Amino acid sequence: MASVELSRVAKTFGPVPVIHGVDLSIEHGEFTVFVGPSGCGKSTLLRMIAGLEEVSSGDLKIGGERVNDVEPSERGVAMVFQSYALYPHMTVAENMGFGLRMTGTPRAEIETRVNAAAEILQLGALMKRKPSQLSGGQRQRVAIGRAIVRNPKVFLFDEPLSNLDAELRVAMRVEIAKLHQELGNTMIYVTHDQTEAMTLADKIVVLRAGKVEQVGSPMTLYDDPDNVFVAGFIGSPKMNFLAATAVEGGDGRQVRLGDTVVSLPLVRDRAVPGAALTIGIRPEHFDRGRAADLRLPVTVDVVEHLGGTNYIYGRTPGGESVVVEKRDGVMARPGERVEVSFALDDLRAFGGDGLRLR
Ligand SMILES: Nc1ncnc2c1ncn2[C@@H]1O[C@H](COP(=O)(O)OP(=O)(O)OP(=O)(O)O)[C@@H](O)[C@H]1O
Ligand SMILES: [Mg+2]
Repeated sequence: MASVELSRVAKTFGPVPVIHGVDLSIEHGEFTVFVGPSGCGKSTLLRMIAGLEEVSSGDLKIGGERVNDVEPSERGVAMVFQSYALYPHMTVAENMGFGLRMTGTPRAEIETRVNAAAEILQLGALMKRKPSQLSGGQRQRVAIGRAIVRNPKVFLFDEPLSNLDAELRVAMRVEIAKLHQELGNTMIYVTHDQTEAMTLADKIVVLRAGKVEQVGSPMTLYDDPDNVFVAGFIGSPKMNFLAATAVEGGDGRQVRLGDTVVSLPLVRDRAVPGAALTIGIRPEHFDRGRAADLRLPVTVDVVEHLGGTNYIYGRTPGGESVVVEKRDGVMARPGERVEVSFALDDLRAFGGDGLRLR
């Protein structure tokens, strides 16, 4: 079993702390994706799991065994990097088998494993080529093949597709999803790409400044974010945020939003009367045709036409920016004032501290 467990894992580079006591539990066979802004510590966390960076404090376990002091080659992990890091003078087959040769694996065994990986990745026809004779996507497949032949318990991917063009990224994303279905290994994957995170992950870990903000399935993070940061980070275009105030003398559910007062469907929490709140609504949740509890006038700044979907970038009467997704083909022009509606159920409320009110 290749579960991965982090307990209070921290990392400091010299005097600078960059990972602050991360607790995380990844089950055997799970596809886990790390997301977060640049510099938040995704690669550092992955490199600690790989054994390429020392863990400053806390416990790191793979398959139930503490591996803080275990050599990278003994951890049963294989990492795929953004820069494919292939040896230019070796053929595809040699690149894939190199790690096994170094550990003294018999030639016949290397050949069997390399051929099996080549078959999975459809590299059979390219085995005698050098990396310079391959496309970016083919090189990336070789880099993945090199990880597969090692038969690791855990695959680690650090932004493996970010050097590829849009079309290849989609194709390779599907390949990686298939690979996970086929091999069933534990995989940990770092990406900046929303779509990759949402489509590949069983579990997404949202990191910010070396701390975990929330862990959950893609739909949990999208639907039920714990705080403003996660709400704004997951989803593209991002959630709209509007300033609101909890009504003085209200019951903790009534808020003033623009010039209307609405009663939020809070079941557990109540806002402090008079407190400043943030109300979130996703661009795709306007004008859904169901219960339109509230209308919001929007002055159109820019309209983006993407074919099936259009985005209106505009402003509320209070001057707050909003993005509205439109699928009904209704056109709006810059400068025009349109009215959009939404259901209270689709609103997400956050307190002044950024934490979600549920
Ligand atoms: N070897 C190092 N020495 C000192 N600081 C480092 C070192 N490696 C990383 N850092 C710092 O640690 C923090 C986390 O870096 P890391 O590379 O893990 O971020 P990341 O989330 O992978 O970012 P990106 O999305 O840009 O790849 C950053 O502030 C970075 O400057
Ligand atoms: Mg990184």
